[in-house]
Amino acid sequence: MKKAILVTGTPGTGKTSIAKGIAEHYDYEYILISGHKDYVSEIVKGVKLIDVDKMIKWIKERQERSEKVIIIDSHLSHYYPKELTRMCFVTRCDPAELRIRLKKREYNNKKIRINLEAEAMDLILQEAIKEEHRIHEINTTHRSTKSSIQEVIGVLEEKKKKSYGSVDFSYYLMKP
Ligand SMILES: Nc1ncnc2c1ncn2[C@@H]1O[C@H](COP(=O)(O)OP(=O)(O)OP(=O)(O)O)[C@@H](O)[C@H]1O
Ligand SMILES: [Mg+2]
Repeated sequence: MKKAILVTGTPGTGKTSIAKGIAEHYDYEYILISGHKDYVSEIVKGVKLIDVDKMIKWIKERQERSEKVIIIDSHLSHYYPKELTRMCFVTRCDPAELRIRLKKREYNNKKIRINLEAEAMDLILQEAIKEEHRIHEINTTHRSTKSSIQEVIGVLEEKKKKSYGSVDFSYYLMKP
């Protein structure tokens, strides 16, 4: 069984664009975690809540069956076990730009604000660190999707050293 590649990050930071680009480049199996009944536990105010244990089981079954490397696109993908994972990429975006990206969606102001604050607080990065993954952070701010994909390829092929911790959007939390 081949180890999985995870792409995680706050909504709008570029997970899907990057994961699909990598899947296409290497002929990996792209897996989007959305609202599949096998891992949705309940629906609260129209929002499908994901049961992480069920999600892991569902991904494992796909990974065991697949002859390809699987690449998982989800803001929860970092909860996939590190033993079954080759690399975890955390997509990042400056809250000022993320606001513009999220405004293009049907998110209300509260949902936008919560996501901008989570991004400024490095929330998903911290969760990924807690899971002890091999992590590389990709800052997608003011940058083309193509260049972000090239960076991921560089890390996967060990031409570029994996790293995290240099992204800092804390300025956003200090604003009056
Ligand atoms: N360097 C970049 N890398 C990735 N996406 C970028 C980049 N620059 C701009 N974007 C844009 O950001 C937007 C959000 O990207 P995308 O849909 O891939 O995010 P996402 O993390 O999958 O969001 P969600 O969690 O809501 O699915 C897209 O319009 C994409 O084109
Ligand atoms: Mg997406």
